[in-house]
Amino acid sequence: MIIIKTPDELVQMRESSRMAALVLDRVAQKVAPGVSTAELDDFAREEIGKLGAVSAFFNYRGYPGYICASINDEVVHGIPGTRKIRLGDVVSLDVGVTYGGFVGDTATTVMVGVSDAELIRLVRTGEEALSAAILKAVTGARLGDVCHAIESTAIAAGFSVVRDFVGHGVGRKMHEDPQIPNFGVPGTGPKLKTGMTLAIEPMINMGTSEVDVMPDGWTVRTKDRKPSVHFEHTIAVQEGSAEILTCVKKK
Ligand code: MF3
Ligand code: CO
Ligand code: CO
Repeated sequence: MIIIKTPDELVQMRESSRMAALVLDRVAQKVAPGVSTAELDDFAREEIGKLGAVSAFFNYRGYPGYICASINDEVVHGIPGTRKIRLGDVVSLDVGVTYGGFVGDTATTVMVGVSDAELIRLVRTGEEALSAAILKAVTGARLGDVCHAIESTAIAAGFSVVRDFVGHGVGRKMHEDPQIPNFGVPGTGPKLKTGMTLAIEPMINMGTSEVDVMPDGWTVRTKDRKPSVHFEHTIAVQEGSAEILTCVKKK
């Protein structure tokens, strides 16, 4: 069952989502050659704490980090550790926070002095896929319209979408109905209603769509070890155009 948030609940979702966006923004600024992903995780823990929020990831099914940090061929769920970021890397950062009983979930991929044209194009395509999906996430549309927008953007650019991991409804729990695959058929699936809150999260691969989960039980990598990018916003379905909740706003 897809939960529709009341206006009061949407106020709460705006708060938690704004915090997630703020933390993601701050962590992204810390990304540089020589910085370890564990350092980013420590910094995120502190920033989340300062806001009076909690990480939605820490201890989620035993997940040991406060954020996810996935480098190059790592798609999602990279566990922060001693590995250091290097020049030319792409680093996907995912932040989820709970505040006031609601979750905000957002991700971005940061280029670290990337000069490879195909990799730059991959990153731009990931951003474009998320924007195209958000444009479809309006009252009266079908979920398949949103999913298809991601897939068609990726395919048109000559890239592939990850099929084994999906976006999702988000609210009092990080993962609510519906699942939001990064592929789909327009005009199919549930009708979107005002007040649905969705985490839309394209994962776009340069090569094969196939992925492997590493022996740590979390880190997802592309099977061909080519790079992958990840972008995610928590949005609220509204009439005419969606409201992006995970954006940094001054209070
Ligand atoms: N934030 C991820 C998502 O976008 C889920 C991370 S689960 C974790 O759905 F345990 F790895 F943190
Ligand atoms: Co996320
Ligand atoms: Co998510």
